Amino acid sequence: MTTKPTVLRDLPADLDVQRLPKHVAVIMDGNGRWAKERGLPRSMGHRRGVDTLKELLRCCKDWGIQTLTAYAFSTENWSRPLEEVDFLMALFERVLRRELREMTQEGVRINFVGDLSPLPASLREEIRQAVEQTRNNQGIQFIVAKNYGGRGEILQACRAIADQVQQGLLQLDEINEAIFEQYLYTAGICDPDLLIRTSGEMRISNFLLWQMAYTELYVTETLWPEFDRIEFHRALHDYQRRHRRFGRI
Ligand code: FPP
Repeated sequence: MTTKPTVLRDLPADLDVQRLPKHVAVIMDGNGRWAKERGLPRSMGHRRGVDTLKELLRCCKDWGIQTLTAYAFSTENWSRPLEEVDFLMALFERVLRRELREMTQEGVRINFVGDLSPLPASLREEIRQAVEQTRNNQGIQFIVAKNYGGRGEILQACRAIADQVQQGLLQLDEINEAIFEQYLYTAGICDPDLLIRTSGEMRISNFLLWQMAYTELYVTETLWPEFDRIEFHRALHDYQRRHRRFGRI
């Protein structure tokens, strides 16, 4: 009888458990190209992308990474063809409904960042339930950026702070970085240590602009549907070779 190899189920021996990123963020790029290369509709690329994300979440949990943030839909993605936007909305809803029980069992705590108000009501309801049902889970924090844009996030924080000042609840000289962060969608969440972007594009595309001030960037040519544990291991290995100075020498 052959046993299935358990390769990379545990943290690979060449990674230092003490120096793992606490928070990994991903820009899941290349679903469309992956599908096109195979003569498939773009929607198939997104479906495969969901499987990849699920496997990465499991891997982060297995390897002891505390937080994974995925850029699932940007404020700019509304300008895609209506058919694709509708497909993505329906896909998120289906995936949330389908995976909720397993996420609950596996100790995943799910949260969302972004302006959820323009999303379809049925999707908002799935989101509400998923957040509510997983809120006490301790296994891993999974943050989905949905209708998210970094500039928009910073602007809404400015507006909220200005409103507090106008009402006399906050003084101008009390505003510092720590206070400002409380008004971001990510209040209470540590900044990402590592950003992974697939499919080779060298940009951050309006993702976590404030939070990524000192994040290490890792870009791979691999298209998102093919980003597996081996690729993730490679990214972590690269991250651990870096010397993070945070402006010091
Ligand atoms: C980018 O590839 C991918 C997206 C805009 C959508 C990613 C969404 C998922 C993988 C689903 C996540 C689901 C949940 C529930 C969190 P692209 O379409 O820009 O690819 P291309 O650059 O090759 O065209």
